[in-house]
Amino acid sequence: MKMKQLLSALLAFALLFSALTACGSATADEVDNPGADVATDSGNDTAVYVDRTNIHAYDDDAPSLYEAFSQWFKVGTAMNTSDLVEGSDEMEILIKQYNIFTLENESKPDAMHPSEDVYNFEALDKLVEFANEYDKTVRGHVLVWHSQCPDWFFYNDEGNTVSADVLVERMKEHITTIVSHYKGEVDVWDVVNEVLGDSGGLRDSMWYQIIGDYDGDGDKYDFIEIAFQTAHEADPDARLIINDYSLESSEDKTITMYMMVKNMLEEGIPIDGIGLQMHVDINFDVETCKNNVEILMKLKDIDPDFVIEITELDVSCFSWSDQSTEVELTDEFVEKFDNLYSDIFEMFIEFSEAGYLDSVVMWGYNDGATWLNSYPVSGRTNHPLLMDSDYKLKSAYWSLIELAAEKS
Ligand code: GLA
Repeated sequence: MKMKQLLSALLAFALLFSALTACGSATADEVDNPGADVATDSGNDTAVYVDRTNIHAYDDDAPSLYEAFSQWFKVGTAMNTSDLVEGSDEMEILIKQYNIFTLENESKPDAMHPSEDVYNFEALDKLVEFANEYDKTVRGHVLVWHSQCPDWFFYNDEGNTVSADVLVERMKEHITTIVSHYKGEVDVWDVVNEVLGDSGGLRDSMWYQIIGDYDGDGDKYDFIEIAFQTAHEADPDARLIINDYSLESSEDKTITMYMMVKNMLEEGIPIDGIGLQMHVDINFDVETCKNNVEILMKLKDIDPDFVIEITELDVSCFSWSDQSTEVELTDEFVEKFDNLYSDIFEMFIEFSEAGYLDSVVMWGYNDGATWLNSYPVSGRTNHPLLMDSDYKLKSAYWSLIELAAEKS
């Protein structure tokens, strides 16, 4: 990185110098920040200064993770549009290391559709533009969820909950508008997220409570069925996923998911796959996951093209019951962590070879920006990903590169 930084600094200095001599109007900030890159926004004449004062430890010459696994599955990450600054380390890392992306927060209902008449398409438009330019795949996350969903969906102006008819219409309008806007551009949608509760049954969400058994056929997951039908009508070619957590560890929840999706497939509901979030921890058991995936993949008896996707992988260094904020990265711990990542990816290779899986997305790409630094314990320093907070590729990353080479 050193050579690159030197070149960056020289380029910045040259541009800054020419800007100073050309118009003599540089601000004190610009002069005080000689490490800044200068890019010109083609839309206007204002120079945009990108802060490059952080010295990242990313190795530009490292191999590409997605290329290493390309014979089995795509490898991706959640990210933010703030990562897409031309020439930044972040954007270079994304381009080189991953080939499928999802927005961490910017395409959730509260961000995209904060009030009934307001849609914000800028963020996902930006990701789609990036994906088109660099030949990447986009996952849309997420259309219907109980969390990060604005209240206006569920209440009228008087503050009373709306009727089932009104909520169904609002949901249909929401899904149709968003999915149509991205027809042919967003390849996969998480249509619904976390519709099952922790105890295995349906989550008691506002969607469930208000819409309930809408068609009177006895089952109470009609909002899910309507959501999938609506998304399919808006873009018949998009892959439609039902996404949830703990499917990799809870057999009860897996069986509930299996039974519900089986009924839906038999009724002709257009569901293409199940997303396993896979927010796992250091004590994760690969065998339980394999067992649960075998249960889910019995759905191939009904639809041979049915798949699973890994949608939000990260490996917390703390077990879920642990309340501490720091973990000592001893050699022994790091070895355990690296071996676990290898075992997980080896399992993904098996899933891919069995025809179950073609996409693995991680929930972030560096330890400095992971949700696990504040959840479930705030102020924690976690290390769940493949790069540290300084963008140094960790030994877990290298063990995955080695695994891919061995298995090729
Ligand atoms: C869930 C959601 C994601 C994200 C993660 C953690 O799994 O599906 O959108 O919010 O939690 O941040």
